[in-house]
Amino acid sequence: MESGVYLFDAQHHRLLPVVASDLRTLAIGRGQRSMVTKAPVQFIYVADIHRLTHTAGFQEPGLQDPEVQKSYYHVDTGLIAGNVYLFAASQELASWFHNCDRIGLMRKLKLRAEQRVLFAQTVGYPERR
Ligand SMILES: Cc1cc2nc3c(=O)[nH]c(=O)nc-3n(C[C@H](O)[C@H](O)[C@H](O)COP(=O)(O)O)c2cc1C
Repeated sequence: MESGVYLFDAQHHRLLPVVASDLRTLAIGRGQRSMVTKAPVQFIYVADIHRLTHTAGFQEPGLQDPEVQKSYYHVDTGLIAGNVYLFAASQELASWFHNCDRIGLMRKLKLRAEQRVLFAQTVGYPERR
């Protein structure tokens, strides 16, 4: 958001501050940045491989395999993004799932190598025609 980047803590349903600067342009792929300068919110989807390989309880052996890891975090991202699309539609908001500046975000968010920036999703007000 304009006020900065936050980590969504799903367990406690709260936002934890990560960086207090507006990084919204980095959440858009190069070449498309001018399209969303007015959108208030960008979701940035980051997979933490450490959390996949250190799950609590049952350890799925396949999760040590990078290809299986990919399938899990891509499905997870699609499920979350689908819910964001549904919620946005229910509130008459517009939404758009897209690429982002992965390297730029990784640097600015000071992510570890095991934390992969995947995709991003914009939520905003629909253009009145
Ligand atoms: C993995 C993935 C990455 C995408 N990246 C982009 C992107 O960088 N730019 C873009 O315009 N659309 C991208 N899309 C497509 C959009 O999410 C969307 O389907 C498209 O903009 C058409 O949306 P509309 O039907 O609301 O016009 C991507 C879709 C997927 C599944």
